[in-house]
Amino acid sequence: MSIDSHSKSVNVCAMDSNSSNKNFLRNTIEPTQIAPKTYVVSVAGFHDDEEELITTIAFEHQCAGMSEDLPFIQESLEWEAKLQSNQPRKIQLFYEHEPSAELLNELRSRNHWCVEINEVVPKDWLSEWKKGYNSFELVGGIWIVPSWLTAPKEVQKVIKIDPGMAFGTGTHETTQIVASLIFDLLTKKLNPREIPSVSADIGSGTGVLAMLMKHLGVSKVLALDIDPECVRVCRENAEINNMQIDSQLGSIEQLNESLPLVVANIVDGILIKMAPEFNKKVLPGGFLILSGILCENREDVKRVFENSGFQLKNQLIKTEWVGMTFEKILA
Ligand SMILES: C[S@@+](CC[C@H](N)C(=O)[O-])C[C@H]1O[C@@H](n2cnc3c(N)ncnc32)[C@H](O)[C@@H]1O
Repeated sequence: MSIDSHSKSVNVCAMDSNSSNKNFLRNTIEPTQIAPKTYVVSVAGFHDDEEELITTIAFEHQCAGMSEDLPFIQESLEWEAKLQSNQPRKIQLFYEHEPSAELLNELRSRNHWCVEINEVVPKDWLSEWKKGYNSFELVGGIWIVPSWLTAPKEVQKVIKIDPGMAFGTGTHETTQIVASLIFDLLTKKLNPREIPSVSADIGSGTGVLAMLMKHLGVSKVLALDIDPECVRVCRENAEINNMQIDSQLGSIEQLNESLPLVVANIVDGILIKMAPEFNKKVLPGGFLILSGILCENREDVKRVFENSGFQLKNQLIKTEWVGMTFEKILA
């Protein structure tokens, strides 16, 4: 398996790291992407302007891919994570065959570079991960069942999920919070005749929330995500579950009509930026359910949405996360 590596794109779901004032690392390569029997050459101690040189040398010697842990810091709720400068850097170069002596000599000829070579123990990371993902009740008798397992006999309502590289196994607190808020709204707060006929899930990931809304009686569900891989995974999951979900690439701006129900489990800073658009895309008297809000930011989120035409109706806290159900004030 080859690793596309020239890109230094940091592509980790924001939820892994969205706490304010916390340092965090993002890796450009997932463990599942490392081919079996991989050799890893680590280079440290280089100057910032030497990175290109390392890349050139590496790929002249059949490097299969490279990765770098980049230290980011997030200072404010606006969630503009910044790369920390003046931090020691280390690049890892991946080889599918034992790296040549020429490569090592060339790297080691720069005296200030620290070069190390390691063989990665072959491991099937995906199988390892799958062992820990089991069926569980998401909410109100609706179970999440990994697509490679059979549902427990007694379970009537099932959402089968194969997450692939998308967020949305149902195990994260933010997903569980929004699932409970959706369930509460659609089964307790609303008369069955009032269940919206159409809804949208913004930041749909695997499509877990979109499929939950289908289970709870919403006839038409639109799932939008800015990550093409999530769109693909969501479509695949909808098919596995034999459900009609309209899964498209995009975000709230792509909704061309206002809806009676919109849900979004993203992160607080992004949700705040999207507030004016949510105001346009939720019908007066309709509902907006948000999750991915850190407890420490909840007053800010509440204030922003109350100033954007919404009234807080319900909220739910789990560990450090809070989710909120808002009703759009009648004009
Ligand atoms: C935390 S995951 C939620 C996945 C799933 N809905 C769940 O609740 O488990 C957030 C998702 O939002 C997507 N996303 C991030 N920013 C977005 C934006 N501005 N518009 C739409 N989707 C976005 C990410 O690609 C990711 O799939």
